[in-house]
Amino acid sequence: MPHKFIFNETSYHGEGAIEEIPGEVKHRGLKKAFIVTDNDLCLAKITDKVTDILEKFSIPFEIFSEVEPNPSTESVSKGVDAYKASGADFILAVGGGSPIDTAKAIGIIITNPEFSDVVSLEGFKNVKNRPVPLFAVPTTAGSAAEATVFFVITDSDNKKKMVCICHQSIPVAAFVDPSMMISMPECLTAATGMDALTHAIEGYITKNATPLSDILTLSAIRLIASSLKDAAEGNKDAFSSMALGQFIAGMGFSNAGLGIVHSMSHPISAFYKTPHGVANAIILPHVMEFNRDAAGDKYRHIAKAMGCENTDALSEDEAKDAAIEAVKNLSAALKIPKDLRDIASEEDIDFLSESAFYDACRPGNPREVTIDDIKKLYLSLM
Ligand SMILES: NC(=O)c1ccc[n+]([C@@H]2O[C@H](COP(=O)([O-])OP(=O)(O)OC[C@H]3O[C@@H](n4cnc5c(N)ncnc54)[C@H](O)[C@@H]3O)[C@@H](O)[C@H]2O)c1
Ligand SMILES: [Fe+2]
Repeated sequence: MPHKFIFNETSYHGEGAIEEIPGEVKHRGLKKAFIVTDNDLCLAKITDKVTDILEKFSIPFEIFSEVEPNPSTESVSKGVDAYKASGADFILAVGGGSPIDTAKAIGIIITNPEFSDVVSLEGFKNVKNRPVPLFAVPTTAGSAAEATVFFVITDSDNKKKMVCICHQSIPVAAFVDPSMMISMPECLTAATGMDALTHAIEGYITKNATPLSDILTLSAIRLIASSLKDAAEGNKDAFSSMALGQFIAGMGFSNAGLGIVHSMSHPISAFYKTPHGVANAIILPHVMEFNRDAAGDKYRHIAKAMGCENTDALSEDEAKDAAIEAVKNLSAALKIPKDLRDIASEEDIDFLSESAFYDACRPGNPREVTIDDIKKLYLSLM
């Protein structure tokens, strides 16, 4: 069976990528930008790096900055109203996964108002009308939301992160510029980088992985493993590798899917507001252990891409242990907590497990899983 692949129409990579925004605006005949970002990025003048360029080229814009981490349905609705009042004809998202995901939802609802309640966007949706054109400038080396057909919105009433999948939601243009990421504090670089590593590893071993997605996700593991620690310490070259590594991880998992690390981390973030990357990083090695007999020889390749030596000489079991150990060591070096003891509470276990089981990423897991398996995995972390 042939495999379908969806990528951005255009993407720019490397230092200075954001300078290409005016050319893309002109080339596409667009007039006014609706910028979706967050308040911290405005206060830190990171959004200014983009608006300064728009001003220089006399491209008008409005700013909407009411996006919180793990963005809510309420923020999307406010953004829809603000877009309607703005007179803009395209959206420019500047931020991590939260602003980019919010922008995707806004762009869909504007041209497909039947989704105005936001919650009906959950799951796989084929929308009738093309969303508002979306440009994305990532400021974290993490979510790769600029490269994916996914967006994740929190339904606060039901304490649930809704995974939304819509092929038309992928930004038409992405500007992946490491200079937009370098201001991240160490703990944010670590957490968002571990999210990217989780995308690469889950995307590599997921049921729907293909030869093309494998090339992307395996290269991403190599790039991220070799540069994340240095990037967290502020090394500029390492940020360039992280910017690319997280992006190609996004290209891979957007087309192949994920697994139960993400299914289990979504309820943790929805319930306790834990940063997405931290939740993933804690859960990842435990789920790798759970999946160890379901991924053929792929753990050996993961171990090699993580920098383990002499992997060809290892037995099957030794190679699996090496891959899991390498992920644990990187997490420890980045000072990520080992378990959920200070985050989650056993009394919420039934809600968390059920929510994880019905998450849209769960069917991609390489090993079949029951609610009881998920419960045991959570309990082993508490
Ligand atoms: N669409 C997808 O494919 C996809 C994939 C993975 C995760 N996600 C979602 O993305 C969200 C997480 O996104 P994220 O991890 O990129 O973080 P985020 O967008 O939630 O941002 C977290 C914090 O980091 C700050 N920040 C961002 N860039 C910064 C910079 N350069 N310097 C200083 N501070 C900066 C923000 O102001 C914010 O306070 C979650 O909701 C997650 O579920 C989406
Ligand atoms: Fe993620």
